[in-house]
Amino acid sequence: MGRAAGELTPSLLGLGLLLCSWACPGGAGLRAPPDRIAIIGAGIGGTSAAYYLRQKFGKDVKIDLFERGEVGGRLATITLQGQEYEAGGSVIHPLNLHMKRFVKDLGLSTLQSSGGLIGVSNGDTLVFEESSWFIINIIKLIWQYGFQPLRMHMWVEDVLDKFMRIYRYQSHDYAFSSVENLLHSLGGDDFLGMLNRTFLETLQKAGFSEKFLDEMIAPINRVNYGQSMDINGFVGAVSLAGADSGLWAIEGGNKLVCSRLLQASKSNLISGSVMYIEKTRTKQTGNPTKMYQVVYQTGSETRSDFYDIVLVATPLNRKMSNITFLNFDPPIEEFHQHYQQIVATFIKGKLNSSSFNSRALDELGLSTILTTDNSHLFINSIGIVSSVRENNNAQPSTDGAFVWKAFSPETLTKEQLLKLFLSYEYAVKQHWHAYPHYKPPEKCSSIILHDRLYYLNAMECAASAMEMSAIAAHNAALLAYHRWNGHTDMIDQEDLYEKLKTEL
Ligand SMILES: Cc1cc2nc3c(=O)[nH]c(=O)nc-3n(C[C@H](O)[C@H](O)[C@H](O)COP(=O)(O)OP(=O)(O)OC[C@H]3O[C@@H](n4cnc5c(N)ncnc54)[C@H](O)[C@@H]3O)c2cc1C
Ligand SMILES: *[C@@H]1O[C@H](CO)[C@@H](O)[C@H](O)[C@H]1NC(C)=O
Ligand SMILES: *[C@@H]1O[C@H](CO)[C@@H](O)[C@H](O)[C@H]1NC(C)=O
Ligand SMILES: *[C@@H]1O[C@H](CO)[C@@H](O)[C@H](O)[C@H]1NC(C)=O
Repeated sequence: MGRAAGELTPSLLGLGLLLCSWACPGGAGLRAPPDRIAIIGAGIGGTSAAYYLRQKFGKDVKIDLFERGEVGGRLATITLQGQEYEAGGSVIHPLNLHMKRFVKDLGLSTLQSSGGLIGVSNGDTLVFEESSWFIINIIKLIWQYGFQPLRMHMWVEDVLDKFMRIYRYQSHDYAFSSVENLLHSLGGDDFLGMLNRTFLETLQKAGFSEKFLDEMIAPINRVNYGQSMDINGFVGAVSLAGADSGLWAIEGGNKLVCSRLLQASKSNLISGSVMYIEKTRTKQTGNPTKMYQVVYQTGSETRSDFYDIVLVATPLNRKMSNITFLNFDPPIEEFHQHYQQIVATFIKGKLNSSSFNSRALDELGLSTILTTDNSHLFINSIGIVSSVRENNNAQPSTDGAFVWKAFSPETLTKEQLLKLFLSYEYAVKQHWHAYPHYKPPEKCSSIILHDRLYYLNAMECAASAMEMSAIAAHNAALLAYHRWNGHTDMIDQEDLYEKLKTEL
C-alpha cells in the first residue's frame, strides 16, 4: 500500500487550503448566487473547478459540466490483458498540494511511482547509467559533472519555494486575472521573466555546462514534455521537479480523482460536444445575468442552454475543442497555441539492449532509458510500467517479458519496434495532443475572455501539469466568485507575499 499522501510533509499541511464547507455562510456584501454555471471539459481542470465553485457559491447554484469524451481527459488509462496502465498524465509531485488534498478529501489511495534504475542513451552508448548503490551514484555524478547536480537541485528548490506561495494566496481566497499577474505575485520580474527565455539560456546563464545539460537535463525534458531545451524556463523547472524522488500516483488510475470531484461537486455531467458559446442579448432571455448561450451536440441532437457564468476548461483550438464564440465584441478569435503530438506505445516484450548501448549486454538491468537530443533514436524514452494497482514492483511474465511504455513524436513502425525489441507480444498506441509546444517568449492568452467567461487552460502557457490545471481551476473559481460579488480587492493584489507574511 502507498503511504497516505498527507504523511509525506506534515509541516506543509499547515499551508493547505482553509476551505469553508458546502454553503459557506454568506457574509456581508454578497449578492444572490448565480443560477447556472457551465463548465466545458471534465479533465482535472474542469472537475476541480466544479468542486471549488460549489464551495464558493454554495448548494443552490446549478453546475453543468460538458464532456464530449471521457471524464478525465488527458488523465486516462489503457487496459491490456486485463491490466490498466496510465496512458496520459502519470506522476504527481509530493508538493502538489491540491492533488494531495483531493486524495485526502475524496478518500482515494496512493501508489509510490518511482523505482528502478535509469540510464541515458545517445543511441550508441549509455552516457549515464544509474547504479543500485546510492554511494556509487554520488561518486559517478561528481566524477562526471562535479557539483552541478547539487546546484541544479538547489535551483529547482528555489523555483519551487516561490511557486508554493500560490497555496497561501489561494487559502486566503486571493485570485489573479492573468497568468502573468499570478507568476509575478510569486516571485516578481525574475520569476515572470522565466517565460521569456529558453531553459537553455536560463541554465547557461546560471553557469551549467553543455555536457551536463545535454546528458542529464535535456533527456528529462524529452521524457516529460517531448521537447528540447528550447522550452521556457518555468516549464523547465516543472519538468525537473518531475524527476524528483517521492513521486506518486492514484491507486486505480489518476482519472479517478476527476470522477470523484465531479461526484463531490454535485454537478450535472452532460455528455456532449460544445460547438458554440454565444453572448446573448438580454432581451432574448429577459434576464440580465443569463449572459451566455451554450450550444452543444449530443448524439445527433443539437441543444442549448443559458448560463450566468461559463468556464472553458479545455485548450481552445480547432483540433482539440473546436468551440466558436459568437456575437462577442471585441470578437474572441480561435487560439493558435500549437500542441505537441506525443504517441505513447505500450509494448510487452524483451528489449534488445544493443539498441541503446553497443557494449554487448545480456541484461541492461535498467528500467527506464532516456535519450539525448542528438540521439538518432526515434523515441524520447522507454520504461517499464506497472499497472495502476501495483506499487512499482512490475514483474516480468514467465518468459522474461515486461510491459514497456515508449514515448515518441511519431507512431512507431513495425521495423522500429523490431529494432527496440528482440521479440514482443503486442504493441498498442495512444495519440495525444499532449501539452503546448513551448516557444519563449510565451504569449499567454487571458483568463478572462469576457465579463463572466473564463479560460482555465490559459495557464498551460506557463507549464502543463495536473497541479497547474488544479491551481488554474481554484483561481478561476475564486475569480468568478469575487467578480460576481464585486470584491475587486481580492483580485490582482500587489505584494501579497509581504502582506500575508505579517498576517500569519
Ligand atoms: C502523455 C502525457 C503525459 C503527461 N504526464 C504528466 C505527468 O506525469 N504529470 C502531470 O502532472 N501532468 C502530466 N501531463 C499533463 C496533464 O495530463 C495535463 O496537464 C492535464 O491532465 C490537463 O488537464 P485539463 O483538465 O486542463 O485538460 P484535459 O484533460 O485536456 O481536459 C479537457 C477536456 O475537455 C473535453 N473537451 C474538449 N473540447 C470539448 C467540447 N467542445 N465539448 C465538450 N468537451 C470538450 C476533452 O474531451 C477533455 O476531456 C501529461 C500529459 C500527457 C498527454
Ligand atoms: C517579456 O517579453 C515581452 C515581449 O515579448 C515584454 O513585453 C515583457 O515585458 C517581458 N517580461 C519580462 C518580465 O521580462
Ligand atoms: C468544427 O466544428 C464545425 C461545426 O461547428 C465543423 O463543421 C467542423 O468540421 C469542425 N472541425 C473540426 C476540425 O472538428
Ligand atoms: C539488436 O539490436 C542491434 C543494434 O540495433 C542489432 O544489430 C541486432 O541485430 C539486434 N538483435 C536482434 C536479435 O534483433
